Amino acid sequence: MATFLKKYFPPPELMLMPAIGLDISDSSIKYAEIVHSHKKNVLKQFGKKSLPQNAITQGAITSKFEVEKVLHEIQALTKRDFVRVALPEDQIHLFDLRIPKVSSKEIEQAIFFQIEEHIPIPKNNLVFDYNLIAEEKNVYHIQVHAIMASVVDQYLEVITKAGFAVLSFELGPQAMTRTLFDQNSHNQSVLVDIGAVHTTISVVYDNNVIFASNVGFGGNILTQEIANISGKSTEEAEQLKQKQGLGSDSEYISVLEQHVNQLAMDIVKHQQYCVDHRGFPAGEHQIVLIGGGAYLPGLAEYLGGQLGLSVNRGRFFDGNLQKINFGEDTLEQPLTYVTAIGLALAQFDHD
Ligand SMILES: Nc1ncnc2c1ncn2[C@@H]1O[C@H](COP(=O)(O)OP(=O)(O)OP(=O)(O)O)[C@@H](O)[C@H]1O
Ligand SMILES: [Mg+2]
Repeated sequence: MATFLKKYFPPPELMLMPAIGLDISDSSIKYAEIVHSHKKNVLKQFGKKSLPQNAITQGAITSKFEVEKVLHEIQALTKRDFVRVALPEDQIHLFDLRIPKVSSKEIEQAIFFQIEEHIPIPKNNLVFDYNLIAEEKNVYHIQVHAIMASVVDQYLEVITKAGFAVLSFELGPQAMTRTLFDQNSHNQSVLVDIGAVHTTISVVYDNNVIFASNVGFGGNILTQEIANISGKSTEEAEQLKQKQGLGSDSEYISVLEQHVNQLAMDIVKHQQYCVDHRGFPAGEHQIVLIGGGAYLPGLAEYLGGQLGLSVNRGRFFDGNLQKINFGEDTLEQPLTYVTAIGLALAQFDHD
């Protein structure tokens, strides 16, 4: 039977144990731990380990051995027993439902009975979770996240073998909202997480992720294009990209623009889909760039011009930004840790 995602988690008393956030993607695993010290969020440890190619492909673990090995290294480094993990957007199905007001047990039943109308997978093979989006007089409006139980089992197996116990699984972009936004604020944003090999476009309405999808754009494609044109090594091409980017005197602007124009079209397409089908209000949305690719010089300005919208690099929500003390190790590229930090911040959700 389809079960609630929480069946995987340990009893509530363990939920308070120190834990790290784990952002596992196709190309890397990033981790972060936040602790409370004098009522402040302190970033206690963070780091990134690359994964070999083909260890994870579009969110599915293709080499358990390789993933477990890297997780084991992280366990040895961090000396933590508990983790909060982002599940891969590629494997998650999101939809919303309106159901009559019932008890929380009955909400789970109601989702279970309707799930096959939204996802082309037998309901017995799924696990799910939900967020309450809005409450009307007699109706709950809820957002459901469902995933194949076999995918969760795969993640659980390698994480457990590496010596960790999982405190929570959640959708990566949902974790990002904790790092970027005041959780009590109203917001309408499109988050664009530009990684090495893929970009996740997610639509956030009042801190709920109502849509998330991956597109085949990533920072490495741009590096590869520069290497091909210039005949330089990947390392040199990476340096050229980071220095010149989409600046007006960039030698590679026309080829980079082709890729970024495609990204702009994908952003518009997903945003419009959410306006047409997911109850995302039309109007001014802010586009927020995160991930390493967000540092490409001139990118925010260029996309802003193409889209006619305000496009900015993400900023940590003031409360978090002020309180996170980066300690001795400087976090040079905070936008690559938005998910890992958001997962770690879940530790304090019930404070
Ligand atoms: N200053 C910069 N300018 C342009 N691109 C940059 C800069 N710094 C990093 N990048 C690019 O960011 C990408 C890595 O970003 P990130 O760490 O978010 O990826 P990842 O999470 O490991 O990848 P993925 O999510 O695709 O698996 C690389 O393509 C890198 O070239
Ligand atoms: Mg990433």
